[in-house]
Amino acid sequence: MRLHRTQRTALPRLLGSLLLVTAAGISSAGAAPGAAAASIGPVTAAPRPLGQIVPAPAEVKAGGSPYVISAGTKIRVDHDSRDARKIGDYLAGVLRPSTGYALPVTGSGGSDGIRLRIGSHDSKLGAEGYTLKSGRGSVTITARGPAGLFHGVQTLRQLLPADVEKKSRQAGPWRVAGGTVTDAPRYAYRGAMLDVSRHFFTVTEVKRYIDQLALYKMNKFHLHLSDDQGWRIAIDSWPRLATYGGQTEVGGGAGGYYTKSDYREIIRYAASRYMEVVPEIDLPGHTNAALASYAELNCNGVAPPLYTGTNVGFSSLCVPKAITYDFVNDVVRELAALTPGKYLHIGGDEAHSTSHDDYVAFMNKAQAVVGKYGKTVVGWHQLTGATPVAGAVAQYWGYDETGAAERKQVADAAKNGTKLVLSPADRVYLDMKYNKDTALGLAWAGYVEVQRSYDWNPGTYLEGAPENSILGVEAPIWSETLTNSDEIEQMAFPRLPGVAELGWSPASTHDWDAYKVRLAAQGPRFSALGIDYYRSAQVPWPAK
Ligand code: ACM
Repeated sequence: MRLHRTQRTALPRLLGSLLLVTAAGISSAGAAPGAAAASIGPVTAAPRPLGQIVPAPAEVKAGGSPYVISAGTKIRVDHDSRDARKIGDYLAGVLRPSTGYALPVTGSGGSDGIRLRIGSHDSKLGAEGYTLKSGRGSVTITARGPAGLFHGVQTLRQLLPADVEKKSRQAGPWRVAGGTVTDAPRYAYRGAMLDVSRHFFTVTEVKRYIDQLALYKMNKFHLHLSDDQGWRIAIDSWPRLATYGGQTEVGGGAGGYYTKSDYREIIRYAASRYMEVVPEIDLPGHTNAALASYAELNCNGVAPPLYTGTNVGFSSLCVPKAITYDFVNDVVRELAALTPGKYLHIGGDEAHSTSHDDYVAFMNKAQAVVGKYGKTVVGWHQLTGATPVAGAVAQYWGYDETGAAERKQVADAAKNGTKLVLSPADRVYLDMKYNKDTALGLAWAGYVEVQRSYDWNPGTYLEGAPENSILGVEAPIWSETLTNSDEIEQMAFPRLPGVAELGWSPASTHDWDAYKVRLAAQGPRFSALGIDYYRSAQVPWPAK
């Protein structure tokens, strides 16, 4: 993300071609804006129509009596499943404050209440899918594994009135429309990135964002842990990275860093939301904080000052020096040891102060180090200008003005087996301003209104890239202008749920006119959660 690029005004753009097909079997998602409109409002006579949630479910068969949560409701979990019990406790934690009900979580069998079950044999559901059946007397969520059960619980949350998210007792009624939802994700990788380097965010702020991602079934949380302005993770073998390189941020504030125990707490919390943390150490550029911390990492042996501005592309590790690889080895070893997930992101973007030959040499060596510690390499898509190792993942962050040759290089790598995570900057960079009046954020990739952010198809977006090379989508948020949760949320909402839908929902459900109605119904939920969102004029929000 760069500030030095010429800002350009947003022009009306032709929308990408859309699939306006309604999937067979979907009776409400994507096809019934009128029905959804009836559900908007604090208390309505009918429950929210089944399927009027974000992301749109794969299959909805509405019908039959609603289920009503009442004072006597029990949350029934498989008696022998610790995972089901944990998810039951989590659901109870969401529902108890607003309903005021006791909602005991019990392993004793029974056919009534909220039933959470792991052990479906339906292979179509995969590891993350679920079915939700609602009718008189019970709502039952069944999945093959805990992640699917957890996602099903998010569906249940969204089927209840928005007031359910409040922390004080609300009136209800707590009805769930009758019928069956059968759901599984389109993509395995559905992520969001938080830049904790340009501004540092506390563990509490990070957890708040993780909770918001979970509501929309995202499953990857990418932490951009180092950049010119700050090194944010303790590395025992190079302690000054954090203690010196972490002590400031954009604008000169105090910065900060995560101790290993802080980082483990983030990992633990993300895992409790079935989310994998993807840590990033940006190399060989974006390294001023490291170069400032250790003079010996610099080719001239002189440490530059700490940096609190917003330029990019001015720093580089010293590619010919042997100590550079001691540094990379130690950092990757310690980070890999802390991180249970399979991915380790090594950046590779905007290395404008590294020669091409040095860049290729460096990235090839750095990838080998990641492999040595048992992790899968992720890099920004410039990695495709080096030699991506087998199994590497490239994160595409180009935009409309990205040249054809660069796009082709990425598409060719995809044809050769490199998997792609798509983060087109003029679609899903959540720090891009919505319009000229947006106070926060940047605009180098143009203005990104809610429709533009949603209205593209990851499967066909990058010409020449095979559809099966697309691992998924990720919404990065860069923090040059963002300093706290409220500011993150003003930029992330309401675009984040749209990116989550692109990652989760079948292409056949993709329809802006239906989506904007489902999104509008999220407005009161954002408010109930204390999220200060952008009330885009493109979305028919209910009156406040
Ligand atoms: C990037 O925005 N430089 C990945």
